[in-house]
Amino acid sequence: MSAVAGTRHVSAAPRPLTGVLFDLDGVIVDTAKLHYTAWSRLAQSLSVHFDEVLNQSLKGVDRLGSLELLLGPHSRRFTLAEKQKMADLKNHWYVESLCDLGTDDILPGALDALEQVRQAGLKTALVSASRNATTVLDRLGVAERFDAVVDPSGVARGKPAPDIFIAAAQELEAAPDRCLGIEDAAAGVAGLKVAGMAVIGVGDPLVLHEADWVLPDLTHFRLSAYRSIT
Ligand code: BG6
Ligand code: MG
Repeated sequence: MSAVAGTRHVSAAPRPLTGVLFDLDGVIVDTAKLHYTAWSRLAQSLSVHFDEVLNQSLKGVDRLGSLELLLGPHSRRFTLAEKQKMADLKNHWYVESLCDLGTDDILPGALDALEQVRQAGLKTALVSASRNATTVLDRLGVAERFDAVVDPSGVARGKPAPDIFIAAAQELEAAPDRCLGIEDAAAGVAGLKVAGMAVIGVGDPLVLHEADWVLPDLTHFRLSAYRSIT
């Protein structure tokens, strides 16, 4: 069931929430521009077209998956080993750019949303497709606000598979149907739904149509509206 900006149809007895799962890139912090700069640099070096529209489709997609989307039909020109080198190079540039990341890059409403959840006594997990998630959290100084941090290194399949969300629920000792996930990427929303969780999408309701609620950004987050889920 989809709904926009805080409306959701309740059709069964509500269940109380135990945990809230936050995505990192695009929910807690604005790193999209840094990924974009690093991918653009790689695309230029390969003389492959890359633009902001294509960059949008990389949201929530892991590093090698993103490279495949960037290469498109050029993919067949390269071996797996060459692609791995390209992904490593892009990551080197991305990690270099993280030196400039700081608390100013925390997205509006993110800290307040985390605080609402923690004040209510619910558990928090950070669930990210990025293998740089721990570095980014450290740069932002918010690592201690999460009871669990889960990145792709510990799961077989990345988003849109539900694995990473199920792993996070296990770390929180929370049943998946007592969890609420917050995601800005269609791949993340899809994975959360398959995991059996309630979902807030942050961004475009047309792109995030599978979410139970869609907010333009986390300044609109009101935990009381989601405390009970069905
Ligand atoms: C996701 C981002 O969180 O992490 C994607 O939305 C990125 O854009 C993916 O490709 C993987 O990140 P990393 O840091 O492991 O290359
Ligand atoms: Mg994201």
